Amino acid sequence: MAVDERFCFMGEWYDPQASMTRTYQVLFYPADSSIEMYDVKTRRAFLKRTKCETIKFNDFFIGNTINIFSRSIKIADFGDAFTARSIGKNQERTLAIIKPDAIRSLGDIISAVYENGFTIARMRMVKLSQNEVMYFYSEHKTKEFFPRLCEFMTSGPVVAMELVGSDAVNRWRSMIGPTDTQRAREQGAHLLRARFGTDGTKNALHGSDSAESVQRELSFFFGSKYGVNTACYNDTTCCVIKPHAVAEGRAGHIINAILIAGFQVSAIGTYSLDKVNAEEFLEVYKGVVHEYPKMVEELMSGACIVLEVRAQNAQAVFRDFCGPADPEIARHIRPRTLRALYGKDKVKNAVHCTDLAEDASLEVEYFFRILDH
Ligand code: RTP
Ligand code: MG
Repeated sequence: MAVDERFCFMGEWYDPQASMTRTYQVLFYPADSSIEMYDVKTRRAFLKRTKCETIKFNDFFIGNTINIFSRSIKIADFGDAFTARSIGKNQERTLAIIKPDAIRSLGDIISAVYENGFTIARMRMVKLSQNEVMYFYSEHKTKEFFPRLCEFMTSGPVVAMELVGSDAVNRWRSMIGPTDTQRAREQGAHLLRARFGTDGTKNALHGSDSAESVQRELSFFFGSKYGVNTACYNDTTCCVIKPHAVAEGRAGHIINAILIAGFQVSAIGTYSLDKVNAEEFLEVYKGVVHEYPKMVEELMSGACIVLEVRAQNAQAVFRDFCGPADPEIARHIRPRTLRALYGKDKVKNAVHCTDLAEDASLEVEYFFRILDH
């Protein structure tokens, strides 16, 4: 990589003081992970070239929010033709759906997504109505299998995921395999429909079949937001898979561990918190836990994955399952807990869980009611 190679993006930052969105040209130099920023409107330098070690090249994809010196900057577009050409082809998008028969394998499927070099840009667990499924699959409305398909797709929650990666449409479809689960099994046990599918209609996963379908299907789930989120707010508690754990590709393993331990994941969503949101969510720790500023910094450093976790006495039982807040201590006294297994230090400790029973539904509501609107 040339030492002075640089990539240019258009970044947006919501300035709470001025109540307006400011647009920046963000230049990234991979050779030394440095960043330079210009205010597009005033044409002034906003940040002179500065090393920013927490930011990785892979973080720069359209739609992602990255944290540059405590500002949550949303990458809105490529900023020049060179960047669009050289990065664009590695950042194709596709829409994947985990269908109702595969929801129990949520963790394994998310692990497979990461292991194959995809990033999950956005994700939502939703319940679709009959009309929504009929609209989504309208190309099949005259087919013999259409009633079966509609019944299946409304039989339980689904998880829609926006995947980003090279040759995403084709690669994801070849990873899932042929439509019919039986045929997928004949073609290869590694195919995701072979691993997680049930039969000809109940086939675990969907993948967009063309660039046009990607546009339409992404806007169905993430633009118009069809489907209602599945959060139920009772017998539940909140789990936030922190940005460092998401970036390290650990989310699938963590979800898997949660499911194996007998918890139900009753809602899921990706969120990128800005400073205001992160401070608000962690408010109860302010002045109490001396890591509070660093906790805020971590929570706003990238996308997190939020789960509503359901069980009897969910808050206490799940908190116990997460283990001591400090992973070093957890590894000594509770080596099988989530923080012992996936935490790095007291701040990057893999997961946040609700600490007080009376806060459980409030924390779940913070994401699935307040931020979703
Ligand atoms: P998808 O759209 O879900 O990614 O699947 P696909 O392209 O592989 O298959 P497509 O022909 O678009 O069919 C859409 C979904 O309808 C159900 N189906 N059942 N003979 C059957 O019972 C049958 N054929 C299709 C499957 O759920 C299929 O994924
Ligand atoms: Mg199809």
